[in-house]
Amino acid sequence: MGSSLLCPSSSASILLRMKSQTQLGPRFSIPNLNRGKIERRNLFSSPSRVTSVRALLKGTQYARIGAESTGPIPAKELLGVVELAAKTGSEVVMEAVNKPRNIMFKQGKSDLVTETDKMSEASILKVVNGNFKDHLILGEEGGLLGDVASDYLWCIDPIDGTTNFAHGYPSFAVSVAVLFRGRPAAACVVEFVGGPMCWNTRTFSASAGGGTFCNGQKIQVSQTNKVEDSLLVTGFGYDHDDAWLANINLFKEFTDISRGVRRLGAAAVDMSHVALGISESYWEYRLKPWDVAAGVLIVEEAGGTVTCMDGEAFSVFDRSCLVSNGSIHGELLERIGPATKKLMKNGIDFSPWFKPEEYATDF
Ligand code: IPD
Ligand code: CA
Ligand code: CA
Repeated sequence: MGSSLLCPSSSASILLRMKSQTQLGPRFSIPNLNRGKIERRNLFSSPSRVTSVRALLKGTQYARIGAESTGPIPAKELLGVVELAAKTGSEVVMEAVNKPRNIMFKQGKSDLVTETDKMSEASILKVVNGNFKDHLILGEEGGLLGDVASDYLWCIDPIDGTTNFAHGYPSFAVSVAVLFRGRPAAACVVEFVGGPMCWNTRTFSASAGGGTFCNGQKIQVSQTNKVEDSLLVTGFGYDHDDAWLANINLFKEFTDISRGVRRLGAAAVDMSHVALGISESYWEYRLKPWDVAAGVLIVEEAGGTVTCMDGEAFSVFDRSCLVSNGSIHGELLERIGPATKKLMKNGIDFSPWFKPEEYATDF
């Protein structure tokens, strides 16, 4: 049984976040991804082909991102532990939400972490370890822990939307997911809603093939089928690189042609809102596995679609993510696809990241 520890948030490893996968050192690697990619490479080449491209994409079946099963552990048992872990973390956050914050900085002046992030993660780890001693765990604050030979990899974001949490601004969450052989198998996001004097939570959960639930009720994505009738959401990471700039332009473009584009500041919340049907899509470059692993399953199990921003099949180790209600996915990709392909053509790094090197996946 192999054991490893790597902390992506420690000062030495913060630099790793920005580097290509080949520079990430022995714990992370670029897998040879062969995920049954959907061939759409030339679909966006000519604007005059927009109508026929749209027709083509509407009929496209995008590859599923969820695991085929929860493996040898029954779905109910696995999801029960995921929910307990997220609930435990959220209790730590709720305890701190009205108190003064102890704010520290990671990469720069806008990349914050608080004592509560660390305490929440510690409480989640306790639940996971207490139930599955031999599983592999990737926590945003604590890094990689456990057995790399395990088929299960837990992806933990103890507070997604730390900046919002630090300011007492709604839109943050505790996000916990477990992958089976690289694909999300069970997920839970506890969203903090309300604000000072009226904090509350709502809980989203999903298991592969089992649907998505919010506070115990089954939920579905919206049926809106045009971007012009849609409310869209995006996000911007802490690195103000070329991908960040390209997304500023996408923000402008979609603001012009939709009912509006929001920027809430918590990826797991943004995705859960698509699952709930209160927004139609969310996209962002440079998200990490702990930002996305729970949210993407929550969207897919609510009937939505998840791909990379070039339209290719998605894994949680990819550096771009587009989720939608499915109906507008093709129309979104008419603009998001070419913008992303241009970045790729210009040599911007889109190789997978934060994949534990020896962790076995099905893709
Ligand atoms: C961040 C949030 C934010 C997104 C950033 C993430 P954090 O996570 O999800 O919405 O724009 O890219 O890093 O740092 O608050 O856990
Ligand atoms: Ca996050
Ligand atoms: Ca976080």
